[in-house]
Amino acid sequence: MPGPSRRLSGILPSGKDGWEVHFEAMNRKRAGQPIIMLSVGDHDFDTPNETVEACVAAVRAGHHHYTELPGAPRLREAMARASTRCTGVETSAAEVIVTPGGQLALYAAVQATLDKGDHAVVVAPYYATYPGTFRAAEAEFTVVEAQAADGFQPRVEAVRAALRPNTRAILINTPNNPTGAVYSRECLEDIAKLCIERDLWLLSDEVYWTLAQGHHVSPRCLSGMAERTLVINSMSKSHGMTGWRIGWITGPQDMIALLLSLNLVTTYGLTDFVQQAAAAALENGYGVDMIADTYNGRRKLFLDAIRGLNDIVVRGSEGGMYVMLDVRALEPNCEKFAWAFLDAENVGVMPGSSFGDAAAGHIRISLCQPDGVLLEAASRLRRFASSYRSKAA
Ligand SMILES: Cc1ncc(COP(=O)(O)O)c(C=O)c1O
Repeated sequence: MPGPSRRLSGILPSGKDGWEVHFEAMNRKRAGQPIIMLSVGDHDFDTPNETVEACVAAVRAGHHHYTELPGAPRLREAMARASTRCTGVETSAAEVIVTPGGQLALYAAVQATLDKGDHAVVVAPYYATYPGTFRAAEAEFTVVEAQAADGFQPRVEAVRAALRPNTRAILINTPNNPTGAVYSRECLEDIAKLCIERDLWLLSDEVYWTLAQGHHVSPRCLSGMAERTLVINSMSKSHGMTGWRIGWITGPQDMIALLLSLNLVTTYGLTDFVQQAAAAALENGYGVDMIADTYNGRRKLFLDAIRGLNDIVVRGSEGGMYVMLDVRALEPNCEKFAWAFLDAENVGVMPGSSFGDAAAGHIRISLCQPDGVLLEAASRLRRFASSYRSKAA
């Protein structure tokens, strides 16, 4: 066949995507082994029934047609109200644009702010798709590592040191995947000041904002930031709708109006009945409190169950759907640790190194399992850690 574009081949240049332990765990589970999957960030429960029924009603009511490119008006209104709550800034429908999931919102935000050869700073540990998203825009990026010892709160001086004359944007994620760190107001204020001083865009991935036990701060609410912040949002986590592919960007009205051109050449608008169901879910908050309570409860349960475990240190783990464990005292190579844990105890976790060097030496535990399974996983981890320690001794 004729060759593909360099742009396409460049999105995942190594061919390795960091999900190897996860896929192997999944294969073993499918083959009948008693594997506990703690590697993936997808709910273990279905979308709330009210949302499903709203979708069925919308299908029956004839919502089968093209919709407005920036999103069905009812959905944009509902998203604007959600953005007002998420960001603390009064938001109008003209300041939001619908995307198929948070991932496309990320893609669109990067396409919207960076030209080929422009530079961005990405704070790590980061969500695994970030590097590829910049490569898809042929943009350069520098990874700045938030340190485990700081609870994975980024330091502005490290971000400043990474800026170049052609830097146009900084990408942050709070509550954070993979670390569960919820960035403090102070840390966000420092980053905001830097963005204003250097006239940069701030791309703020806030898809876990409902899972922060009320501590989420959006940098969009900080002085001078609404005009230079693009907030990436999604209904995947907050409303239990990962497979529905509904997300949105909140930003300055002029930028949102321009982003319409990207919807024109990519999605040409989203599925009408899905948008109606999403609007109903946002208007009524279907599932939001239940999901937040579930993850807050699981986080506490799991952390209590591993409390006092020698040589394993909890880092971040304040919000979102994950717990981050520092295993360096047992094994500096977290990929090796994750493979050995899978082999010995049939538990699949993500090596932190899949999310950048900053998370190397850690494992990410997904809380997307019922309480009993999480408790069983905690006891397997306890057993594994003590046998690992005695083998090393
Ligand atoms: C930090 C972060 N941003 C964006 C996304 C993408 O969200 P969506 O499922 O809506 O595409 C995810 C998904 O796991 C994520 O963890």
